[in-house]
Order: sequence, then C-alpha cells, then structure tokens
Amino acid sequence: MIHEGILSTIGNTPLIRLNRVFRESRFRLFAKLEGFNPGGSAKDRPALNILEEAIEAGVIRSETVIVESSSGNLGIGLAQACRYLGLRFICVVDPRTTQQNIRILKAYGAEIDVVSEFDVKDGEFLQARINRVKTLLRANRDSFWPNQYANLANAAAHYKTTMREIAVYLNGNVDYLFCATSTCGTIRGCAEYVRDYNLKTKIFAVDAVGSVIFGGQRAKRLIPGHGAARRPELYLPGLAEECLHVTDLDCVVGCHQLVRSEALLVGGSSGGVLMALNYSRHRIPPDATVVLIFHDRGERYLDTIYSESWVKEHFGAVSSLWHDEARDLKEEEECVTMTY
Ligand SMILES: Cc1ncc(COP(=O)(O)O)c(C=O)c1O
Repeated sequence: MIHEGILSTIGNTPLIRLNRVFRESRFRLFAKLEGFNPGGSAKDRPALNILEEAIEAGVIRSETVIVESSSGNLGIGLAQACRYLGLRFICVVDPRTTQQNIRILKAYGAEIDVVSEFDVKDGEFLQARINRVKTLLRANRDSFWPNQYANLANAAAHYKTTMREIAVYLNGNVDYLFCATSTCGTIRGCAEYVRDYNLKTKIFAVDAVGSVIFGGQRAKRLIPGHGAARRPELYLPGLAEECLHVTDLDCVVGCHQLVRSEALLVGGSSGGVLMALNYSRHRIPPDATVVLIFHDRGERYLDTIYSESWVKEHFGAVSSLWHDEARDLKEEEECVTMTY
C-alpha cells in the first residue's frame, strides 16, 4: 500500500490476538499496538488531529509557532507532525526528560526549552513547564498551544480513529476495554464512541499509584506515560466503569511477562494495563472479548524497565524477571481498586 507521506501512516494500528499470556483464561484477548504509529505511540493521533483542527479553523498559519509542554510521546508526535507540516515547534521539557527523548525531539527539528526549577507553589515540574509555555506564548505573538490536557481535539482523535478501529475490527463486539490514562484523551474518546454507538463495552481505566486523576494521594512515580500530578480538564466522572491503580513494579512485571510470553516489547503503561487485567481477570466471563490498548513501544524503556541494573536499583533483586522462564502470572487480589 502506498501512503501519501508519513502522517498518513498514523492510525490503523494492528489489533493482535494474545493467546499465550493467560493460557488458562478462556476469554478472547486482543491488544491494540499503538507503537506501530510512525512516531512510536498513540500520541501521534492527537498530535496530528490537534494541529489539523487548528489549521482548519485558521488558528495555525504557516508562521505560527507551536509551543507545548511534553517530555515524552506527545512531544515526539508533535515534533514529527510539525516537521512534516513545516511548522516551528518549541517543546518545553524538564530535567527528568530522558536524553533519548531529547535527541529524538531534536532530530525532528524541535527546539528544546528546559525548565530547571520546580514551581514555587506546588513543588512540581508540571506547573513550572505550563508557566514557561505561557511565557513563550506571550513572547511569540503568532503562537499556538495544543494544551493536550484540555484540548477536545485530543479526545476526538481517539473517538474518530482508535475506538472506531477497534469497534470495526471486532464488529462492535468488545466487552471490556482496558486503557491507561494521563490526559484522559484516549479514554474519553473511546468512552464517548462507546456511548454514541451504543456498544456494550465496559471500560476500565488504568492509572498509576501516586497519580491523582481519579483521586488519591500524589506520590513519586518512576515510569512515565500514564498518570498525572493533577486532574486533567479532559477528565469527566463516569468515563470508566472502574479505575485500577498499578504500581511501577506492576508495569515492570507486566512488560517482562509480555516479552516472555508474546515476544512483545512494549512501554511501561502497557505492562500496567496487562497487570490491571491480571488483577481483575477472575471477574471476566469466559466468553468475553477483552481489548487492551498498548500505548507505546518498549525501545524507549531499555535503560529502565528492560535494564537489569535499573530494576535492581529500584525494586531490589527481581531476577526472576530475567531468569525464571517458568514463572507464570498469578491472579492477585491486592491491586488497589477504586469504584466511582
Ligand atoms: C505510554 C503512555 N501510556 C498512556 C498514556 C495515556 O494516554 P492519555 O494521555 O490519552 O490519557 C500516555 C499519554 O501520554 C502515554 O504516553
């Protein structure tokens, strides 16, 4: 198939059957592999949709400078789309942004603006980055802020593409969808599609322990991607049936389990999504169809989740991840769950 440029390869990612990871479970399990997007994650979809909607509305013109705070996947999606569309892009990052991501952003031609101090009021980098974005917007008169946490075009991207693709591939026959959350763009787009098309799908949100999206106490988290230090404007009560909270170690264990059983090298939140299903699988009927969204690929986690020394430093000797081939996932009940 011939595509009209790189941006037209965004979306239509594979939906694959996972037969091995839960050998004893009878439900049909699928994973939507968002790492197949050209920028490596689900965030290519909102990056493109936000820009396209703003271009169509005349808010972005050829001279407009795009300014966004992101240290990860959305930044890379925007850098790719801005390069292709010939737009200048300033990405505001903080010292926790990995060198690898900074190199990728720069390779696409993004300008990097590093915030080095926490916000004085809340002691967080997130607010400090947003403050810096606002300063840059004031300094550049013709500028545009995608504002991924509040922009409805973020959720719309997943309504128009991600959930639609899942529903079409499975003829609307999706009983459970497990989705990691940060801006809530993915879950909101999927939930609104399910509502509008009267699908029977029950959506389980997967959030990080230490994230405050669905309530709870803010705490330090090691694995980027899912979770947020504040509730995003895109959040709405009732988006999900339930929210399952997973720890950093859950993500690590889930990722290793996916490599071992399915030869799938995926990012941290995907491991968390797998473990959220693991913790709740006793509640899934045998004839159900379950879909997991895997937001990104594993290559950007080689120095963390897939590094034996990093895992040892943070979690102690979890050598069974690498050496105990026979280890199988156990159903465990102690996952933190919250109903709302
Ligand atoms: C790896 C990963 N997983 C999950 C998410 C959550 O997606 P959303 O922001 O649409 O809630 C993100 C968002 O950046 C992500 O990068």
